[in-house]
Amino acid sequence: MEAPIVAPSILAADFANIQRDVEMLNQSDADWIHIDIMDGVFVPNISFGFPVCEAINEYAKKPLDVHLMIQHPDRYLKAFRDAGAASISVHYEACPHLHRSIQAIRAMDCKAGVAINPHTNVQLLEDVIADVDLVCLMSVNPGFGGQKFIENTYKKVHQLKEIIAENDSKALIEIDGGVNAQNAAQLMAAGADVLVAGSFVFKSIDPLATIKELKSIG
Ligand code: DX5
Ligand code: ZN
Repeated sequence: MEAPIVAPSILAADFANIQRDVEMLNQSDADWIHIDIMDGVFVPNISFGFPVCEAINEYAKKPLDVHLMIQHPDRYLKAFRDAGAASISVHYEACPHLHRSIQAIRAMDCKAGVAINPHTNVQLLEDVIADVDLVCLMSVNPGFGGQKFIENTYKKVHQLKEIIAENDSKALIEIDGGVNAQNAAQLMAAGADVLVAGSFVFKSIDPLATIKELKSIG
């Protein structure tokens, strides 16, 4: 079992001290910085948009992993690439032409990801899995940090791992929501590659040590 790619979610950072928190992540063992974009329509919450992503990018020394929880993501793909995204994930549930959206992301030399809600069956990704770099399995209902991990996610990781193998896909499996030291090992054993963690990192007493702890699992 390899060590996870650890992607702390900036949603749980102190927005009044975002530079300080990004610099903390630069010093840490984190691999990516996860950026949650919420539009108040696809999800019942609004987070932040391009200017904040650009500000993070100004200081970040790690790839920005942008998770678009928005309707009509195609309209904003270029703006997020220009704001510094290294990978962009769109939601399966928000994309009537998902294959086109994936192609558009890849055409900009970004990694293309597809995120799915807890109720969405992984089988629905079978026809695009060969073309995606990342599948973001939501382990909470998207919209808020600090929610409880949904246990059914383990089953989905196993199923997705099989679909990836059957289709010769190189897609990484990213887990997003409620990740902590208690569930991380089981997620990695099931076949996860990337662990997103917001509250567990930023609400801990020592975020650097918490990131190290996650990184040592696997
Ligand atoms: C939820 C977001 C997550 C969130 C994770 O809608 O997509 O990335 O920031 O936060 P925690 O780790 O606190 O569940
Ligand atoms: Zn996210």
